[in-house]
Amino acid sequence: MQPSRIISSNQHDVHPDLERLVSKHLQTPFHKPISELNKEAFVLANDLYKRHQGNFILDSGCGVGESSYHIAKLYPDAFVLGVDQSEHRLQINSEWDLPDNAQLIQANLIDFWRLAVESNWLVKHHFLLYPNPWPKKKHLQRRWHGHAVFPFLKELGGTLELRTNWKIYADEFKTALSLLSKNECYFEQFEPLNPITPFERKYQLSNQKLYRVTLSF
Ligand SMILES: C[S@@+](CC[C@H](N)C(=O)[O-])C[C@H]1O[C@@H](n2cnc3c(N)ncnc32)[C@H](O)[C@@H]1O
Repeated sequence: MQPSRIISSNQHDVHPDLERLVSKHLQTPFHKPISELNKEAFVLANDLYKRHQGNFILDSGCGVGESSYHIAKLYPDAFVLGVDQSEHRLQINSEWDLPDNAQLIQANLIDFWRLAVESNWLVKHHFLLYPNPWPKKKHLQRRWHGHAVFPFLKELGGTLELRTNWKIYADEFKTALSLLSKNECYFEQFEPLNPITPFERKYQLSNQKLYRVTLSF
């Protein structure tokens, strides 16, 4: 595996526009039209959600689905749904023979989360593992906490867990969460005993620091 380079950015701290942007998103309804493809994908997902009687776990941006596999093994009574927009990544998952309590679905999360909220989903745990950092300062709105869909994460409930190798992303996520919820937010640097995603493994092998932010809504 190629060593992973430390993120370099022209941004050296929490973005100065972050709080203003999140506050705007909290006050302005997000009405971007939802694509037919994502609606179709959601029909399948909603069927899985309705059929499963126990806890439901979302692995958003699951990539090849390795994390969905590990989470499903860890919580055998829960159902784990991995969602990713990349057909290519989802197809690589053949290495991970998913257990019966997990499935992967191709969809864009910007639509998927809104459909899930519209259908009154409540998840037990929501993993956001190593999202694309978009480290350029001008790309704040492409980071999950800078996107107009961010407030929907609260509506999905449960314990939200973000992992990243970019401390500024973690700092920003924590700041943005504090605008969404008064509940306690935990921030830690951590070293996984057994990495659960390819990105986690790659960063660990490259001796990069990893950060985790969690909050229960
Ligand atoms: C850096 S990769 C991390 C993948 C995996 N979580 C891991 O740690 O190995 C980010 C993933 O998020 C997915 N992604 C980014 N934006 C997305 C969106 N709007 N909807 C669905 N998936 C998205 C990408 O396709 C990619 O697989």
